[in-house]
Amino acid sequence: NMKKFFLSLVVIISGLFFTFYGCNKGSGDEILIGEFGSLSGSEATFGISSTNGLKLAVEEMNNSGGLLNKKIKLITYDDQGKPSEAQTVVQRLIKNDNVVAVIGEVASSRSKAGAPICQQNKIPMITPASTNPEVTAIGDYIFRVCFIDPFQATVVSKFIINTLKLKRVAILKDVKNAYSTGLSDFFEKEFKTMGGEIVEIQSFQAGDKDFKAQLTSIKAKNPEAIFIPAYYTDVNLISIQAREIGITVPLIGSDGWESEKLTEGKAKDALEGCFFSTHVSTENPDPAIQNFITKYKAKYNSMPDAMSFLAYDAGMILFDAMKRAGTTDPEKVKNELAKTKDYNGVTGKISINEQRNAIKPAVILEIKGGQFKYKETVAP
Ligand code: PHE
Repeated sequence: NMKKFFLSLVVIISGLFFTFYGCNKGSGDEILIGEFGSLSGSEATFGISSTNGLKLAVEEMNNSGGLLNKKIKLITYDDQGKPSEAQTVVQRLIKNDNVVAVIGEVASSRSKAGAPICQQNKIPMITPASTNPEVTAIGDYIFRVCFIDPFQATVVSKFIINTLKLKRVAILKDVKNAYSTGLSDFFEKEFKTMGGEIVEIQSFQAGDKDFKAQLTSIKAKNPEAIFIPAYYTDVNLISIQAREIGITVPLIGSDGWESEKLTEGKAKDALEGCFFSTHVSTENPDPAIQNFITKYKAKYNSMPDAMSFLAYDAGMILFDAMKRAGTTDPEKVKNELAKTKDYNGVTGKISINEQRNAIKPAVILEIKGGQFKYKETVAP
């Protein structure tokens, strides 16, 4: 009986200990990582693809013994595709959940909303896919594993001038979106430098449903192609309406086009033979890419897209930095992240430069029968 008494005492005390010290701080044998993404809203595929990729990275680490003798626990919040909600959930991750690092977002405007909170609280943040240069300029705790938009603008300009051999281009941009306005500006400058001509610039706001006025003004200027640096939900509608008013020239896009939803419905035909730049091609025979596709398909029964690959890499370089630091202490992890050099990711070799960006090649994909076909790679 005495034995039983002491045994229950031990159980009760350790239970109390666990409740008070454990749960809040991630129980001491867990490493808490936060993630924010658009799991719903008009960019839902960005959030879903990236969290799927990141979960794979976490699962793999945990299955191979964890990290620093602990298991990684991922806490993911949906920001519904809204910058204000992104701020709220990043705050919650840091203040309530006590995460030691944050992964996210895909969209630059939401990364720009969350990053200042990470910076102020000195919590490292890695965006897998935000390409606007201003994101990592927010501070020394903010990193990315993808290329930036001045490069993407060069890639698209070169492709239009050298491969398509076209010179007269119109731009249609989303003025409510930092990524779109930034990329539009970089493109305008680069395209002109390469000898191209911008014949018209029109704008819309994400969520608009009728683009006919803008498209009519563009059509009147007779461009040979239209560059649309925007997200897939809007581009889907724009492409359909462009064809309806008789625009036949190719529409050219950027990584924001990447979603299986881009070519849904009538857009499948409207976008036939169009092109966009992005981060990876699933047709790339590179074993790192093909192995990732196999693992991803086995777990989710769907194909990964650029964000899945990039979020997996974002997770992996974070874990690698923690391993090298030998701790999850945010300042030390930030210092190790900054030293990341030639990390072999599924999206290629990742080195973090002085501006906390990664220098990577881009690919151009062609839309054929609603599918994204590899066209060419453009080196940095
Ligand atoms: N680069 C885009 C942005 O900064 C996000 C994105 C990346 C979208 C990759 C699709 C694929 O907003």
